[in-house]
Amino acid sequence: MKILVTGGAGFIGGNFAHLMVNTYPEDEIVVLDALTYAGNLETLEPVMDRPNFKFIKGDITDREFIDQCFEQEHFDVVVNFAAESHVDRSIEDPGIFLRTNILGVQTLMDACRKYGIRRYHQVSTDEVYGDLPLDRPDLLFHEDTPIHTSSPYSASKASADLLVLAYHRTFGLPVTISRCSNNYGPYHFPEKLIPLVISKALAEEPIPVYGEGANVRDWLYVNDHCTAIDLILRKGKDGEIYNIGGHNEVSNLDVVKTILKALDKPESLIHFVKDRPGHDLRYAMDPTKIETELGWKPEYRFETGIQKTIDWYLSNRDWWEHIVNGEYQNYYARMYRERV
Ligand code: NAD
Ligand code: DAU
Repeated sequence: MKILVTGGAGFIGGNFAHLMVNTYPEDEIVVLDALTYAGNLETLEPVMDRPNFKFIKGDITDREFIDQCFEQEHFDVVVNFAAESHVDRSIEDPGIFLRTNILGVQTLMDACRKYGIRRYHQVSTDEVYGDLPLDRPDLLFHEDTPIHTSSPYSASKASADLLVLAYHRTFGLPVTISRCSNNYGPYHFPEKLIPLVISKALAEEPIPVYGEGANVRDWLYVNDHCTAIDLILRKGKDGEIYNIGGHNEVSNLDVVKTILKALDKPESLIHFVKDRPGHDLRYAMDPTKIETELGWKPEYRFETGIQKTIDWYLSNRDWWEHIVNGEYQNYYARMYRERV
């Protein structure tokens, strides 16, 4: 099987590419990535020279390039991770989110129709369901929970999901969609909460916590997300949506305190800052469908996954120090200037 992994130089796509290359030596894995600020070839270093791996630099919104690529490569399966993924950046500048996350998906699916594929898989997010109240722990997101988005990012991801389902119904394109909760683990870009806290704590710099830190996320170790997608590709049914999550709800403040404790750093580093506009209160997934229909089970609880993640950041300083010492500093100054 020849699998195209778009956005595979990013956090989750990179972990997925590692998993595929190592688990299926008989499959060919092609990563296509535009190498935006979030894409990093160092993430692909462990697989770059493997015989069943190939990297192509390119933009999923570039129709001519995508057509050429599909014509030459004859992919069996496409897994689309490529996206603008950071909510705060979508609040600052929505346009690129609509372009990549919606029009890029259209371009990819048009190529799938034209050249033929066995499956197009769209990597979506729990954020398409909006948020849940903090005082109703009984409520979870199900696959049929109405779409109800809050940020330009989540609206762009929800739009893409609708387009994917429309291509299935109208054109018969074989598609699947997965909607996963917050991931964490190796190669996570330091603009996101967990790697940001680890890097700031190690530097003993102030850690910005939005609002009161009471917002809750349902954290999943990235490898568990990757095994779920692999299962959907091999056993999932065309036209279906699968929720992915491991029942690991933690408030932001507890995430920060857990990391500080593990690194033996003081809680005085915590700085409460201005809240994110439209900030979703709580995400919580019901993964019953993928568990019962496909037999998926996550391997990591938050307690073990977070320690593994911290260990990875401690022993792979080069990977993230290259990022935080570069252009990222301008991003950080701009983004957080107004908050403090
Ligand atoms: P990321 O920002 O780390 O990586 C995105 C990758 O896409 C980067 O390598 C970037 O270079 C590439 N890219 C961006 N625009 C492109 C374009 N026009 N053409 C080709 N490549 C392009 O993101 P991530 O956290 O790894 O998320 C991957 C996917 O998973 C996204 O679709 C996101 O919506 C979804 N998702 C993320 C999470 C999470 O917690 N991070 C949870 C659920 C779903
Ligand atoms: O739920 C899945 C989503 O998770 C994905 O679709 C997104 O691509 C991914 O970025 C992530 O979105 P979040 O907004 O939940 O992740 P982030 O790491 O940006 O923030 C996690 C929580 O921490 C959120 O409530 C905001 C808060 N936060 C974040 C940052 C960056 C802070 O308190 N301080 C910060 O500096």
